[in-house]
Amino acid sequence: MEVIETRVQLRSWRGKIHGSVGFIPTMGALHEGHLSLVRRSLAENPWTIVSIFVNPRQFGPQEDYHRYPRTLETDLRLLQNLGVSAAFTPSVEEMYSPEDEVYVSLTRLGRLWCGSYRLGHFDGVALVLIKLFNLIMPTRAYFGEKDFQQVRVVEKLVEELFFPIEIVRVPTVREPDGLAMSSRNTYLSPSGRAQALALYKVLQYIQTLVPTTQLTADLIREGEAFLRERFPEVKLEYLAIVDEYSLQPIEHLRQSSNPRILIAAYVEGVRLIDNLPLSLPEESS
Ligand code: PAF
Repeated sequence: MEVIETRVQLRSWRGKIHGSVGFIPTMGALHEGHLSLVRRSLAENPWTIVSIFVNPRQFGPQEDYHRYPRTLETDLRLLQNLGVSAAFTPSVEEMYSPEDEVYVSLTRLGRLWCGSYRLGHFDGVALVLIKLFNLIMPTRAYFGEKDFQQVRVVEKLVEELFFPIEIVRVPTVREPDGLAMSSRNTYLSPSGRAQALALYKVLQYIQTLVPTTQLTADLIREGEAFLRERFPEVKLEYLAIVDEYSLQPIEHLRQSSNPRILIAAYVEGVRLIDNLPLSLPEESS
């Protein structure tokens, strides 16, 4: 596996290879969720490149940029063992300059939900991905559905900026008890880890209510009560039922052909997210 640190080396690597290129952008601290994206790319492309870059532009001033887990050596070993072709591990200076003029601003999809609490977050994600897509010119790029809003933002970005890149969604990888894998899970104490299960549990609980009511206000109210009673230490940021394409809230599940529940909550000060597609009962004829 080639470990590439500069844009010049990356351009030269890219110029030498032929055939489809699968790209997995990451911020490192790799876990099974990332590795599932890598495996999918390895199965679908002769070349797979992974970027490891903790992108300062997508963190707010009060967020965890400085303490975000950085485990580069272990990450590189994991990627090498899987048979990845190259890892791109640029410094911040390689990606940004204090003289930079270009900022990206998302107007709708990027300002909903997580975007309304993490101001500028998706603008920063979009900017770094535009840079990485331009450097790597992948055939396909792989994203985990755990960050569902990010997936939709990236799909829109690629469509609007005419990137000839196929965005591949990969299902969320969960721990055996259902907790969605996330690099931020490592911040949790054992009791926080138990509380974090609340996110998946409430999504599942809401799914069990769907045969009795499809009014989303009822489902959300029941979900919030479930969290208050069963997981009082969890601080809910939002719980929403949306159409998975527009990410707009819906009032009745039948308003959307693909309704999805989104959740963000704090456990021990750690911000966690999850989501689940909702399946509707067959309509009786
Ligand atoms: O999902 C992430 O890890 C990041 O948002 C991404 C896509 C690597 C951009 O920095």
